[in-house]
Amino acid sequence: MPRTVYINGRYCAPEDATVSIFDRGLLFADAIYEVAGVIDGKLLDFASHMQRLDRSLVEMRMPAPLTHDEILAVMRELVKRDQVEEGLVYMQISRGSTGDRDFLPPEGMKPTVFMFAQHKSDVTRQEFQNGIKMISAPDIRWGRRDIKTVGLMGSVFAKWTAKEAGGAEVLMHQDGYVTEGGATSFYIIKDNTIITRPLSNDILHGCTRKALLKILEDGDIGLDERLYTLDEAHSADEAFITGASTFVCPVVQIDDAVLGTGKPGPVTRRLQDIYMDFIHKDAI
Ligand SMILES: Cc1ncc(COP(=O)(O)O)c(C=O)c1O
Repeated sequence: MPRTVYINGRYCAPEDATVSIFDRGLLFADAIYEVAGVIDGKLLDFASHMQRLDRSLVEMRMPAPLTHDEILAVMRELVKRDQVEEGLVYMQISRGSTGDRDFLPPEGMKPTVFMFAQHKSDVTRQEFQNGIKMISAPDIRWGRRDIKTVGLMGSVFAKWTAKEAGGAEVLMHQDGYVTEGGATSFYIIKDNTIITRPLSNDILHGCTRKALLKILEDGDIGLDERLYTLDEAHSADEAFITGASTFVCPVVQIDDAVLGTGKPGPVTRRLQDIYMDFIHKDAI
């Protein structure tokens, strides 16, 4: 089936979607992005992604090129045209092009916007069922990880390290403390309490994290948002990652440390069930 993408107000084939070589997204990674998960052919956490997009736009001093309703309409159209049942929609907004390379952009630039849908989820069914191994690596990303920019080579380098050591995802750490996964939020569980790093400029503010923690507010599983070391992660009872197309995925090994029995633990299984139940009802 031919794929349809969206660029600057029109739908077209991928090979017809072109941007200038002077686009600041190419020259400076001067661009932000969002990834919304798709389940049952519907979008997950749309409002939350729009909230984070608005925040990224403000921090980057970029105007909003489309309203939330316009973005929703395009995302739905791409999901429909590409017949995506489970996967994601990617949206990128760059500052645009002046036809030259200058560090400081002038006022009033017209952003470049493109979107595409993708069938692939970030974890396989087998990983979702059996859990994954993570490999730790230093977090070498820049200091504003709360802005979802496309300058992602720090994450790519870290993910290479993990892959070469047999890990499905990297667990990044800085100054002795865990930050997050290469493209996922990370959590450990100790004595029926979820421990995760508090929001700051050091991590991306995950939409899945936000949704999951909100669902858990009234439950019997504790939450402790604090810094924790890699040693604590190695000796956790359980661990898991979350992301827009990762959902809740168990972690059964970190480096050489096998967590619990080496199989997804009971709390993680419960969280998976609770979250999957929620998204099947909540997707729009
Ligand atoms: C570094 C990082 N952390 C966390 C996440 C998870 O965020 P979300 O749940 O919004 O997909 C992502 C997703 O791309 C990410 O790249």
